[in-house]
Amino acid sequence: MTKHFTHIRQLNAEQGMHLVRRAKAMKDSRFTSSLLHGKTIMLIFEKASTRTRISFDIAVRQLGGGTIFMTPMESQLGRSEPLRDTARVLSRYADGMVVRTFGQQKLDELMAFGSIPVVNALTDQGHPCQVMSDMLTMYERTPNLASLTVAWVGDGNNMANSLVEAAMVFGFTLKLACPKGFGPDVELLAEAAASGANVFLMENPEEAVAGAHYVHTDVWASMGQEEEMRERVKVFSRYSVNEALMRKAAPGACFMHCLPAHRGEEVMEEVFEGQSSIVWDQAENRLHMQKAILEWVFTQE
Ligand code: CP
Ligand code: NVA
Repeated sequence: MTKHFTHIRQLNAEQGMHLVRRAKAMKDSRFTSSLLHGKTIMLIFEKASTRTRISFDIAVRQLGGGTIFMTPMESQLGRSEPLRDTARVLSRYADGMVVRTFGQQKLDELMAFGSIPVVNALTDQGHPCQVMSDMLTMYERTPNLASLTVAWVGDGNNMANSLVEAAMVFGFTLKLACPKGFGPDVELLAEAAASGANVFLMENPEEAVAGAHYVHTDVWASMGQEEEMRERVKVFSRYSVNEALMRKAAPGACFMHCLPAHRGEEVMEEVFEGQSSIVWDQAENRLHMQKAILEWVFTQE
């Protein structure tokens, strides 16, 4: 059976905690292996990336494999060769695909027509590898993840959706403050509510951060939404994470951002560069979690 990693709620609680603990052990031991020896992983990126691309590339190398980077610009993908055809061709050469794209349905097509593992390196709907590594970043400080209250301030985007899924899997309380009409996926929220997860959507950032141990945010316009930025700045102006907002969180609360950050927009410089910020640990942990995810995908249970 080909294993894929496309969204967090495909994991049960045990698998989720396994990945977090495994990534921590890999980090502590500076883990390398020959698991992917002789294997080639395609890195297919239809959007820009620094962290995800580089951390996956290095993760594959540290597991003994090789990578090929592919973009629409320099392949037939950009000249309308159907994804289903690309999936079948690449499956004849390579051993896995790490994919950053727009609609989640593109991953579904790659999985349906390809015969090698697909890993979600960000879609418009989710950013599961980032949020899994954020779980590691929180776990390092507070191992009892289910006891946490996590706040999300800003756009109900791919990151917010994956955090909702993480709350369902890891059992923490998630309070999201998003402007009206900019909340996370409605069906996903309904699924979270039906599953009994402690996920709460509100508009007021102060209410969301009250008592939170971690305060997360992200850009107001994600990749592909750049032309909406002028309008979004108006809608999101009260969703900046500043020192006053951080003071409303639990004592010792940490500030988190997946990066890249827009200082002066979703986060103020004093918070981003301040004592509570753990953004560089988040960035580092991408590498360790990518290795745990790759190991999980390429190991049959
Ligand atoms: N956080 C994150 O995914 O960063 P990149 O866009 O640089 O990969
Ligand atoms: N929400 C952002 C995350 C970037 C890592 C985007 O999709 O552009």
